[in-house]
Amino acid sequence: MKPEFPHKDIIDPDQFSKKDLETILSTTEYLITLQKQNKTQNILKNYLMASLFFESSTRTRLSFETAMLRLGGQVISTVGFQFSSISKGETLYDTMKMIEAYADIAVIRHPVEGSSRIAASAVSIPIINAGDGAGHHPTQALLDLYTIYKEKGTIDGLKIAFIGDLKFGRTIHSLVKLLTHYDVEMVFISPIDLAIPEAYRKELKKKNIEFEETEDIKAFWDCDVAYVTRIQEERFVDKDEYERLKNSYVINKSLVLASKKNTLIMHPLPRVNELSTDVDDLPNAAYFRQARYGVDVRMALLCLCLKVELPDI
Ligand code: CP
Repeated sequence: MKPEFPHKDIIDPDQFSKKDLETILSTTEYLITLQKQNKTQNILKNYLMASLFFESSTRTRLSFETAMLRLGGQVISTVGFQFSSISKGETLYDTMKMIEAYADIAVIRHPVEGSSRIAASAVSIPIINAGDGAGHHPTQALLDLYTIYKEKGTIDGLKIAFIGDLKFGRTIHSLVKLLTHYDVEMVFISPIDLAIPEAYRKELKKKNIEFEETEDIKAFWDCDVAYVTRIQEERFVDKDEYERLKNSYVINKSLVLASKKNTLIMHPLPRVNELSTDVDDLPNAAYFRQARYGVDVRMALLCLCLKVELPDI
């Protein structure tokens, strides 16, 4: 079985049609079944993935590397600029020309917005954007979409709250774009200084997606899903501004238990102070499950980008 997927690279959430999203969700389910049947070990045998993380990461890097290894593939990696020849002045273009000679696919995280597109334009191997500055993090959004589908059984008809740093949070930006393909309502909860950028408001209005903006944290109590995010310290130019805003919201157990809809609590992680550990043992705390689904979704993305045949179930 070979799912139909028209993309070589994964760069930006805007590249996906609704059909593409359905293909990614169904291929993820298919791979979960194949894993249960011990049939994934040879799917990417003889393929090599370059894992290029020029900005810090735990989940994205390790889940991509785990995904590749579970599919029988191999991994080469570089972490941080200091151990790459970029620190000697080599351009990203030249670096990618070398990577193309070594690997069959590359996953790249870079602090500069648009860098994965530059990388993709330099080479013919598939490139996957694992986060580019304050730009996008499409594979996180895809695993978030899968989490909502898996935990709620549907995406259509849901009311979804986004809480925290809606200005700099690239996972929010990417997920909002993916959700515009579905019949959902969105609630944006943030301090005014960290509100969702105007471009997203415009897009939602254009696509007739119902949304509201508020500073009131209690607004998530009648939502099906609350997507909580960290205030992105590394994106602030003014550190005093970060200090002023960093504890704007703290979601704790009593706040979650007051929800009228047993709201599913999601978070892309890492968390700092915005999500209390006393939430962790609630059944609707989905964030650690969400991170685990990341391996399954990324296994699907590697197979789809490399256009390999999957074993029959
Ligand atoms: N969610 C996420 O991107 O986590 P990492 O920064 O640890 O990869």
